[in-house]
Amino acid sequence: MNVNIGDISLQVAQRGAGKPLVLVHGFPLDHTMWAAQMAALSSTHLVLAPDLRGFGASGVTSGTLTMEQYADDLAALLDAMQIREPVTFCSLSMGGYVAWQFVARHRPRLARLILCDTRAAADTPDAAAGRLKTAERVLAEGAQVVADAMLPKLFAPQNLARNADYVQATREVILRTPPEGIAAALRGMAQRKDVTSQLATIDVPTLVLCGEHDGISPPAEMRQIAAAIPGAEYVEIADAGHMAPLENPLAVNAKIASFMAN
Ligand code: MLT
Repeated sequence: MNVNIGDISLQVAQRGAGKPLVLVHGFPLDHTMWAAQMAALSSTHLVLAPDLRGFGASGVTSGTLTMEQYADDLAALLDAMQIREPVTFCSLSMGGYVAWQFVARHRPRLARLILCDTRAAADTPDAAAGRLKTAERVLAEGAQVVADAMLPKLFAPQNLARNADYVQATREVILRTPPEGIAAALRGMAQRKDVTSQLATIDVPTLVLCGEHDGISPPAEMRQIAAAIPGAEYVEIADAGHMAPLENPLAVNAKIASFMAN
């Protein structure tokens, strides 16, 4: 469904009933990356999987989109949908960068946190400069620039080598993403702050999941994130890279279900 949140409308897939679980996709993807989680977890939960501003079928704004803006969009989405019960906020990678801002700015709306394959560190100056250059290239040449650059990094080598169905599907999602949305997110990620010092203040039950072959947010880094969040549980997902929920949905779903049942 489409939900108006002021200046734009966001597309959100909604399924099931029960305690709310919000699934926030990574860059430069959309809610379809969570199809297996939606199918499995909607038997016990109200599952909401939005497309962030500039992605999927949501409205696009150009310029720079900060992680704070995406977090505020999601709070506005919950308002517009009249979801007042605190949510489990489950996110992957850039979705995790949004999660840090959701915790900081909308803590009363939060019951639990699930962080998949994400980072707390800011970009290095070189990485940030690279993102700004890529933003310009995407605007000039199209989404294929990021599809070609990112696809090989998203999946575990063995899953890429066997060209699993989801590899091609992910490429198609990236190619459909509006260049303005990709560029705005790249600029926003380039200027995001290091949140490492915020981790110790997180006071909701937290689950940290990481694909064992994740090269973008590697297990060693995610283990440190989990160690810094009071009481957080860390779980490594076998046979998966950065896209653990797509690559090993059975393991991810089982872990999320048991985390939410406690
Ligand atoms: C993602 O999967 O969202 C991206 O890898 C995040 C990033 O580029 O830092």
